[in-house]
Amino acid sequence: MLFAFFALSITFYSCKSPEGNNTTIEKKQDTLLYKNHHDSAKYVGINTCKLCHQSIYNTFINTGMGKSFDVASQQKSAGDYHTSVIQDKIGDFYYKAFWKNDSLHFLEYRLKGRDTIYKRLETVNYIIGSGQHTNSHIQSVNGYLNQMPMTFYTQKKTWDLPPGFENGHNSRFMRKIGLECMSCHNSYPDFVLGSENKYQSVEKGIGCERCHGPGSIHVTERSTGSKIDTSKYIDYSIVNPAKLSIEGQFDICQRCHLQGNTVLKEGKSFYDFKPGMKLSDYMTVFLPKYKNADDEFIMASHADRLKQSACFIKSLEKSKNTKSLRPYKEALTCVTCHNPHVSVKETNKEVFNDACNSCHYEGTEGIQDKRLKMHDKNNGSKLTCSDKSVIRNSTFKTQNCVSCHMPSSGSIDIPHVSVHDHYIRKPQSKTITKKDKQALKEFIGLYAINEKNPKPFIKAKAYLNQYEKFEPRSYYLDSAAL
Ligand code: HEC
Ligand code: HEC
Ligand code: HEC
Ligand code: HEC
Ligand code: HEC
Ligand code: HEC
Ligand code: HEC
Repeated sequence: MLFAFFALSITFYSCKSPEGNNTTIEKKQDTLLYKNHHDSAKYVGINTCKLCHQSIYNTFINTGMGKSFDVASQQKSAGDYHTSVIQDKIGDFYYKAFWKNDSLHFLEYRLKGRDTIYKRLETVNYIIGSGQHTNSHIQSVNGYLNQMPMTFYTQKKTWDLPPGFENGHNSRFMRKIGLECMSCHNSYPDFVLGSENKYQSVEKGIGCERCHGPGSIHVTERSTGSKIDTSKYIDYSIVNPAKLSIEGQFDICQRCHLQGNTVLKEGKSFYDFKPGMKLSDYMTVFLPKYKNADDEFIMASHADRLKQSACFIKSLEKSKNTKSLRPYKEALTCVTCHNPHVSVKETNKEVFNDACNSCHYEGTEGIQDKRLKMHDKNNGSKLTCSDKSVIRNSTFKTQNCVSCHMPSSGSIDIPHVSVHDHYIRKPQSKTITKKDKQALKEFIGLYAINEKNPKPFIKAKAYLNQYEKFEPRSYYLDSAAL
């Protein structure tokens, strides 16, 4: 602890920026103190963590993250193989998925009348996606990984082309699975740097160390039997996200739950960010914003949506100067509502409503008398629900806040899937039609979600990226020139 204190005071001194920016100082502390940020710390894999943390392992392995990636097997697949034929009308191809001797195959074929005039049979090697929403399929050709042209959408129990393969963009067996994609969906793989999609080996699912950092030093220290009282102190051999600054914790989830136009910082790769570090030192993630398109969101955008909520903004302000060992308890982060070791499917829905009520409700029984007494606990929320039907209901506390304030709906990037909008706010009236919105839509600009003022150079890169990778519209180029 003495060492920790010493290091802390040095950091404090040397990192004090002219503006006295508190958050930078906090992050630098995180970064300097954790022993597993050092290059000598190695990844040891989930099976080593399991040796001492069995019960966490047992629930985690059944989460979407624990099951995010695996070799293709009947057990892993969520697919329905009775109705596994799809058609790509534009490309004039049919596809069929089927099992043969425990190996999954996709048949690509073309019909002329009733005759099959063309056939191509390919083997599936990996399944990406737990099946919470989808299973997509990957083929390995000598270590080069490509996505294949069929996806199973579990919520609708239907096969279709994968997201991005529709409307004449069917890349068949050629869509490269690069490190950007892999590093959000799995433990870090052994990637051949310099290649676009070649891997020496890939892991099977997101492991503990993606949120806790490399484990070798922790395992060595704990194997000697030495212990730290983690209820009072921080074990600096491993990162416990609960004990990071709020931004530090948020950055871990944001590393993957913020998908957009990502620009890597000079000399950095998708391998380099480790929990406890500052994400914006490694990458800046941009999203395009449009006028009148507040309701639209992509699937992996939880971080962006949540950050727009008054609950997030106001409670973060309030908790700025907390001295708590677990700073996030004073604010609203992903971990306020989610225990990442337990799947949302296994989570009692009351956990979420309890989270709302912990800030928005005071009292133990119905709120008839108490609800109008606006309350101001430490969290600074002065509001209770103002919806008449909710107010009328004497069992306010058991109302499903989420159903109205975090409704589930389709995402704009992935078909046949619905996710919960994490932008918590008053329910939006749906009077504007889709068509109106299209007409009203107006590009405002690219916004950096995880960094306040990115350098002009990084911004210019983002505009070029947006043009090349996403939508070739000329205004992106106009903005890049500015
Ligand atoms: C040899 C047993 C052992 C292994 C293996 C092990 N741990 Fe631990 N871990 C412990 C013990 C004991 C504690 C609690 C006391 C402590 O931190 O000293 C702990 C505490 C932790 C904490 C909390 C630290 C804090 O400050 O609150 C985290 C997080 C953690 N372990 C993650 C991991 C991860 C991830 C792995 C795999 C890379 C792992 N552990 C492997 C024994 C182990
Ligand atoms: C390495 C990337 C990565 C990191 C880091 C990460 N996630 Fe995830 N998370 C994913 C992916 C990918 C999925 C979807 C996996 C699937 O279903 O195939 C997911 C799914 C989830 C789910 C839904 C799945 C379930 O079974 O409950 C929750 C909740 C979640 N993440 C919360 C978090 C939180 C909270 C954090 C930060 C503490 C976090 N994630 C950090 C990549 C990540
Ligand atoms: C910035 C990180 C990131 C990148 C890059 C990314 N994804 Fe995802 N993806 C996610 C997260 C997070 C989810 C889970 C969202 C949820 O559960 O609501 C997801 C969801 C998915 C799912 C559905 C999983 C399920 O069953 O819930 C599939 C399949 C998928 N992505 C495939 C891909 C492929 C293929 C690529 C690369 C071409 C890719 N993703 C790139 C973060 C990312
Ligand atoms: C998606 C991110 C994520 C993954 C993956 C993950 N954890 Fe955690 N872990 C967290 C967060 C966040 C906390 C803090 C939770 C809290 O205190 O509310 C935590 C806390 C812990 C703690 C401290 C628990 C305590 O009660 O103080 C241990 C030990 C731990 N994790 C072990 C593991 C092991 C072992 C695995 C893999 C089987 C794992 N974690 C996978 C995010 C993750
Ligand atoms: C960490 C505390 C916290 C949690 C948890 C929390 N909120 Fe809030 N919420 C706030 C604060 C603070 C405000 C802003 C109050 C103000 O403006 O005075 C707020 C504002 C709101 C608003 C008004 C938003 C607006 O734009 O006018 C709604 C609606 C809301 N919360 C609903 C919820 C729901 C539903 C949940 C659970 C899913 C929830 N909140 C969880 C703290 C919280
Ligand atoms: C105020 C509570 C709350 C907070 C904060 C919160 N979530 Fe959620 N989350 C929910 C609820 C409620 C669901 C839906 C659970 C269900 O399916 O019943 C959900 C579902 C999810 C899912 C599954 C896919 C979906 O959208 O249905 C993912 C992934 C997820 N959350 C990630 C995150 C991440 C990442 C953060 C932080 C940026 C976060 N959540 C913060 C309440 C919350
Ligand atoms: C039946 C749908 C419904 C449910 C259930 C519901 N709300 Fe609301 N809530 C609304 C609507 C609609 C409004 C906006 C009403 C208005 O215009 O004043 C609102 C407004 C709010 C506000 C903003 C109040 C203000 O003065 O700005 C908060 C905070 C809030 N709700 C919290 C909650 C919490 C916490 C729960 C769960 C205990 C909950 N709501 C359950 C529909 C609902």
